[in-house]
Amino acid sequence: MPKVGIIAGSGFYDFEGVSIKDVRKVSTPYGEPSDSYRICEFGGLEFVFLARHGSPHRLQPHRINYRANIWGLRDLGVKRILSINAVGGINTGIRPGDIVITDQIIDITNGRANTFYDSDEVIHIDFTVPYCTELRDVLLIAGSKNDIALVNGGTYVSVNGPRLETAAEIALFARNGGDVVGMTGMPEACLARELEICFSCIAVVTNSAAGLSSGRLTATEVVDTMKVSMERIRSLLMTTLCTIPAKRSCECRHALKDAIL
Ligand code: HPA
Repeated sequence: MPKVGIIAGSGFYDFEGVSIKDVRKVSTPYGEPSDSYRICEFGGLEFVFLARHGSPHRLQPHRINYRANIWGLRDLGVKRILSINAVGGINTGIRPGDIVITDQIIDITNGRANTFYDSDEVIHIDFTVPYCTELRDVLLIAGSKNDIALVNGGTYVSVNGPRLETAAEIALFARNGGDVVGMTGMPEACLARELEICFSCIAVVTNSAAGLSSGRLTATEVVDTMKVSMERIRSLLMTTLCTIPAKRSCECRHALKDAIL
């Protein structure tokens, strides 16, 4: 089966039933990934784990080497990526503790290396549907098998950080159809697409976005809500790993077809 990669905060490989078989340091033409890759096993299934912010957590979202992270996964044979992201809820129907399987992106990051094709080759990758439809379906089915309520679809607004947003910015994103806001959603998704790797986002709502709750936003709130969501994410990931079809039948594997000028 094509290998699965999981990108998340540190601690996510530390689940009951998961054993670490190997720790691989990978160097890439784009520099060093955030951390060594942990080759993990769960119920006879292998996956590769990467701590996005390094371990211990030391990299701010705008300082992450997204290209190296994705290239390293590709070097290890990964063809599918499940990416876990902490987000703020913009859509008032989405509450802290909810998990959203996002289906669209608005990218307003800047200054991040966001392509593997920045030399002589001219490539315009199709990104109409930014996430792998097959992986999204598997996640949604895994949710219902575990009685985990998932929000099916939502637009992820990817901001640069590291500061949080103003209330006016969040109001603007809401008017423009944003459902959740986070700092790490891009360029991971489009870099994976450029390498024809399936990619899906599990957005864990850790707080109401700026201006939508009475108080200030705190990093503690984000970390605490993530902790509360851990057990559901664990079940979701493990069932997903067991139900991913052996063969890929989505469009991601042909992403470069007709993209090269
Ligand atoms: N804004 C941006 N990034 C975030 C938030 C937020 O409210 N919560 C978690 N990551």
